[in-house]
This record gives sequence, C-alpha cells and structure tokens, in this order.
Amino acid sequence: MKVSEVREKYLEFFKRNDHAEIASAPIVPENDPTTLFTSSGMQPLVPYLLGEEHPAGARLVDSQKCFRADDIEEVGDNRHTTFFEMLGNWSLGDYFKKEQLPWFFSFLVDELGLDPNRIYVTVYEGGEGIEKDTESVEIWKELFASKGIEAKEVHIGSEEDGYTKGMQGGRIFFYDAKKNWWSRSGTPDKMPAGEPGGPDSEVFYDFGEEFADPSYADKELHPNSDSGQFIEIGNSVFMEFLKKEDGSFDTLPRRNVDFGGGLERITAATLGNPDVFLVDVFTPTREKIEELSGKAYVGNENSFRVILDHLRGATFMIGDGVMPSNTEAGYILRRLIRRSVRHADLLGIPEGKLSELTRPFISVYKDHYTNLAEKEEEIVKAIADEEEKFRKTLKSGMKQFEKIEGDISGEDAFVLFTSYGFPLELTLELAQEKGVKVDVDAYKKAFEEHQAKSRAGAEQKFKGGLADDSEMSVKYHTATHLLHRALKDVLGEDVMQKGSNITPERLRFDFSFDRKMTDEEKEEVTKIVNEQIAKELPVTFEDISMEEAKKRGAIGLFEEKYGDTVRVYSIGDYSLEFCGGPHVENIKDLGVFRIKKEEASSAGVRRIKAVLE
Ligand code: SER
Repeated sequence: MKVSEVREKYLEFFKRNDHAEIASAPIVPENDPTTLFTSSGMQPLVPYLLGEEHPAGARLVDSQKCFRADDIEEVGDNRHTTFFEMLGNWSLGDYFKKEQLPWFFSFLVDELGLDPNRIYVTVYEGGEGIEKDTESVEIWKELFASKGIEAKEVHIGSEEDGYTKGMQGGRIFFYDAKKNWWSRSGTPDKMPAGEPGGPDSEVFYDFGEEFADPSYADKELHPNSDSGQFIEIGNSVFMEFLKKEDGSFDTLPRRNVDFGGGLERITAATLGNPDVFLVDVFTPTREKIEELSGKAYVGNENSFRVILDHLRGATFMIGDGVMPSNTEAGYILRRLIRRSVRHADLLGIPEGKLSELTRPFISVYKDHYTNLAEKEEEIVKAIADEEEKFRKTLKSGMKQFEKIEGDISGEDAFVLFTSYGFPLELTLELAQEKGVKVDVDAYKKAFEEHQAKSRAGAEQKFKGGLADDSEMSVKYHTATHLLHRALKDVLGEDVMQKGSNITPERLRFDFSFDRKMTDEEKEEVTKIVNEQIAKELPVTFEDISMEEAKKRGAIGLFEEKYGDTVRVYSIGDYSLEFCGGPHVENIKDLGVFRIKKEEASSAGVRRIKAVLE
C-alpha cells in the first residue's frame, strides 16, 4: 500500500468510530519555549490530556508531523528516520482499553489485511506502585483467539537481566517500565511533577527471520530486542496517571488513551519489507538520486538513507517556517542539509543539485500538506543557498581536517564547526572513516560556551518538554497577541507570524516583513500595545467553526481543515487570534510593553524581542 492510502484508511476508520479529525500541528511548536520540535502526536494535546476540554470533542484522530533530533545518528539503518508521521487517536476521558486494543487490531488485520500470525504484543508487568496490566492481556487473548491463535504469555523480565529470556513461543510479552511505560520523559522515576503518563501496550510486526540482524543470532530474540526482525508499529498508552511533587502518582481527572503509530513503518508492514525507505513516499527522490549519482540504492544504502531522511525533514521544516541558522531549530536544519551535501559528494552527485531532490518530496506530499506546494520555491532556494554556503568552506575544511594528526580534540572539532561550518556528526563520520576518535565532551563544552555568548540573555529551557505556564510566560503569551495585531495595524495586513518563543523573561516574535522597521514604526507599535493594556480589556475564548473564525477575521497560524472547530482568543474587540492558550484573564496586569530589539531573523523575516516591565 501507499503511505497516503494507509493514512486515509486510518483516519476514515477512526472517523467511522466517532472520532473528529484534527490537523497536524506545525513541526516546530508555536508558543512553546520548552522544546524545539513536535516529536509525538500527543505533544500538542498535552493541555487536553491534563483535563482541558478539546473544542473538537473527546475522540480525536490525526496524522502528526514529527521530528526527533535525537535520532539523527541512528539514520542509516532500515527503520530510523528523524522525520516521520505519527498516526494518532485519543480518548479524552471517553473509551479505554476494551475499545482501543480491538480497534487497532481490527485496523491492522481487517483494514490493512496484515497477517495476525505476524503480530506480537507487549504489556506492562507492573511496578512503581502500579499493577500488572492483566486487563490488556485478557483483551489481547480474545482478539488472537478470534483469529484462531492461542496467545501464550511470557515474562521477559527486566532491563537488569538483559531481557534475555527469548521468545518461548509467546505472543503476549510482559516487560518492565523501561519498555512498557510511556511519558515524555521516560520511566516513572524520570517524570517531573505534573507530567502525565501510564502503562502502554505496544504492537510489533514480525517481518521474518531473514530480516534479523545477524549479530542477534546468538542472543535470544524477543519482540522488543531491536533485532530488525520485529518492528514496533503502534503504541497504546493508557494515560491515567500524574506524577506528584512527592514522587508518587495521582490519577488524572479522567482516563485517556494516547495512541501513536509510525505511518511509514505500518506501510512497510503492508509491503512485507521492514526497510521504510522502500515505501512509496521515498521512491521518486530515491530514483532521482540514482539518476544524478549513477549509483544504485542497493549497495549504497547508508548515504541514500541519510539524504532521503535528512532532505525530507529539511523540506518539512522549511515548509513550517524554519530557516538554516546557527541556533535552535535552524541549527538542526543546517546540520541536516550539510550532512546531505557530504553524502551527495560520497555518491558522486554533481555539486549544486541537492535542492532538486526536494521537489519529488513536495509532489508526493502536497495534497495532504498543502503548505509545501505553496512554499516550493522558498524550500528549493533555502536548500540551494545552504549547499552553496557550505561548499565555500567544505573543501578548505576537509584540508584542515586532513592536517589534524591523531585523535581530534574538542578544540579541533570546534574550529571545524566555527571556521568551516562542519556539524559535529560530519566530523564524527570523517573521524570514523579515518579510524580516529573525537573528544565529543570537550567539543560540546566549547559549543555550549559559544552558544551562551551568542545568545542575548540565557533562554530558559525546561526539562521534559513540559509547557511552561508560569505567570510571566502566560503574560508574555497574551502580549504576543497584542503585538501581532499591532504589527498588522502599523505595517500592513501582509505581516504574518513566522514563529514565537516565550520565556518568563521576554517574548520573541518572528514575522514576515522585508525590511528593518523604522524607529517611528516601533514607537507606534509600542504605543498601540500600551494603549490597549491601559484599556484593561478582558481575554476570552470561543470554540467556533473555522469558516466562522475566518469570517470574523481571526489571525494567526493554523492548519485546520474546513469543517473543523477551532479555538479563538479575543482581547476585547482589539485582537482575535487562533490559539490554544493559556492567557491571562484581563490584560490590565501586563505592565508596560517595551520593544528591546528588532532585527533580521532570516530572509524576509524580522524578529522582535520585547519585555513587560
Ligand atoms: N505518545 C506515545 C508515543 O509517542 C503514543 O502516542 O509513542
């Protein structure tokens, strides 16, 4: 099957079961200073999982664009990608295990036609004061029995004993919290207070022994052993717990289901081959690489996969407004493109051709992600410009690299980054080829010191991706709406929000505008915002149809589909903006708004930093 067919079948299946389809949130979260990327389907839904009412109801379904920067170094095998789409369905205090598990099983077996004999499942064996998940076991047993499969239970043990008990003819495998507990921060002990989580039940697809990594031959296999034979294709989290300050657990106001499944991996299962780079969305780009390089995918998988993964991620990132830079999301994007340049060279792709590889991705995805088509030329140009920029220093950087004798010190690696633009993973790859080591810790230290100096005032980041809803951040969030409206009033309606980042110390707002603002314009914007604050306007929200929101002139970033219900926040009758909150109830306590800096962020994008005093 094609990725688009699996996506549509999933969305339709859950819509038939009374779920409302919601649009994918942007890959770079808006108004969330705590995390660079959306890395799971549940992330944009955290306020609702914690108890807030969702405007679309208690049953939701979507396909969310996700990016996991931590997986950059894993890319090269047949199943890891940095960018992926996560199919997701949620129950916000509505259904629970006895609906969720049969639905997902039926989707796999009845809708996609997967062989139930190839499906293996895992459940939580209990611990941390939470009971063993026997309810899921009973449900799974019945589901397998309905297909004539006797589902034997196996206790695979804990991480300490290495999970080396083997398959033992099992179908349902009990694991500890390391494998069968889900929260954004991992196991229960790592969760900060206020974080939701719960036991989960994962589904693995058995692609066959022939796909098992030979290094696993003498270890015993089990579904979660990452051998390559069994691949996780879906995870139902039974999110009913909230970590308390004292380290124990409370139950959430309502029991939720948070399901996530890798769209490309599920598609790979329908094709019977675990190599996700063989699913249709990669085919046109893969063929283009073959044409440009004169080399075949088979035999050159590593470089092909790096380019396929990284350029797809870069395409989606630029589509969502990120541009290459030396900080934050822009730096990750820069790394993706530069590493692709190096692998394009390894394959012998002619210089300056990398950006051509993005067009096939855009044509594959443009029907579902319409922003890609709208931004096609911008995306192609950004990649071409970055390739050109990197090529100016690549050759001399390679010479510098060759001059280094023996292992690479942190300082050498840092000079390769600052003077020649080599991202760390590129230096690591080159070092590996040369058979030398890199002092990564020393590099990271030097990099962090450098970042701290380039950064205007340390930005406060919060561990675990928890949304920062401190009083000051909430005030800055509301002030951002006033600023957005005032910028449109002063500079024109064409001004569009391009990004926002809020800490308890300041707001940062990126917007499309092609020149420096004059002092008079900055003063005018400041005056308008402060005049509104003086009016002591109330802040309220409404859940209305998107058509209605557009009719009333709501501004802001949104990616909803027609027919969707959306949330809009009003500040008196001054501002109306698409937003999920949170906001102050009245703007009277915001204080005095002051613009501290107005500067270029990237081509055609300006950045304002402002404070409330
Ligand atoms: N949050 C879970 C995951 O990311 C399920 O959606 O796996």
